[in-house]
Amino acid sequence: MSDPVSTPALRKLRFHVLRHDPRDATSVPHFQTYEIEEAAGMTLFIALNEIREQIDSSLAFDFVCRAGICGSCGMVINGRPGLACRTLTQDLPADITLAPLPAFELIADLSVNTGKWMRGMSERLETWVHSLQGDPDLRRLEERMDPDLADRIYELDRCVECGCCVAACGTARMREDFVGAVGLNKIARFSLDPRDKRTDNDFYELVGNDDGVFGCMTLLGCQDVCPKDLPLQTQIAFLRRKMARTGLG
Ligand code: SF4
Ligand code: F3S
Ligand code: FES
Repeated sequence: MSDPVSTPALRKLRFHVLRHDPRDATSVPHFQTYEIEEAAGMTLFIALNEIREQIDSSLAFDFVCRAGICGSCGMVINGRPGLACRTLTQDLPADITLAPLPAFELIADLSVNTGKWMRGMSERLETWVHSLQGDPDLRRLEERMDPDLADRIYELDRCVECGCCVAACGTARMREDFVGAVGLNKIARFSLDPRDKRTDNDFYELVGNDDGVFGCMTLLGCQDVCPKDLPLQTQIAFLRRKMARTGLG
C-alpha cells in the first residue's frame, strides 16, 4: 500500500522552447514543444540536458557552473528572466515557455552572447580599480579598508553578469547603449572603493548621461529579477544623487 504522505505524483512537463539559428538563412523563429517526466528536485538545467540527450541534440543553451555563479544560463522563463540552473521545475506550472534573453546577440535558441555585451559595457565604463597613474608605491593597494565598507563593496561584487537585469529593463530595450543596472551597479561599486582614484567628475563623464543613470526610468524590473538579490535600486538612487550633485557643481 502506498504511503499517504509520500511525495506527490510527478508531472509530465511540456517545454515550449523558442528555436532559431540566425546563422542559418532558412531558420524561422518558432516554438518547439518537448515533453518529459518531471523528477524530484529537477532544475531547468537538468530538464534541458535531458531534452538534449534524449530528444533533440540540436537544442542550443549555455551552462557552465550549474550553481548560480557563472551567470551563463540566463533565459526568459515563462516571461521572466532568470537563471535556469537555479530554477526548480516544481516552482513552475507544467507548461514552461523558454526564450533567449532579449537585448543580447542571439547565438542560437536559448544561447545569447552576454559576454560580448558585458565586455563592451566594462570597457566603456572602465570597470576596474584605477590607482594613481605612475604611483610607484604599490603597497597603497594593500592599505586597510574599513570592514563595513569592504562588506558594501563585496555585496556589489556578487554580480555574476548574467544579464537578467538588462533583459528585464525597458530602457535597455529602447536604448542600445544604456549601461543597464549591471553597469550602474559597477560604477556605484568603484565609486565607493578608496583604492580607485577616479573623482566624481570622472564617474559623471561615464554615467551622468542618458545612457547612464539619467536614462534609468526607475522601472524596477532589474531588482525584481536579479538572481543575486543585489540592491540595485539603492545603488541607482545613490548614483543619481551623486551625479546630480556633481552635474550641478
Ligand atoms: Fe545578473 Fe543581478 Fe548582475 Fe544584473 S546585477 S547582471 S541581474 S547578477
Ligand atoms: Fe531599467 Fe532598473 Fe532603471 S529596470 S529603467 S535600470 S530601475
Ligand atoms: Fe552558471 Fe547557471 S550554469 S549560473
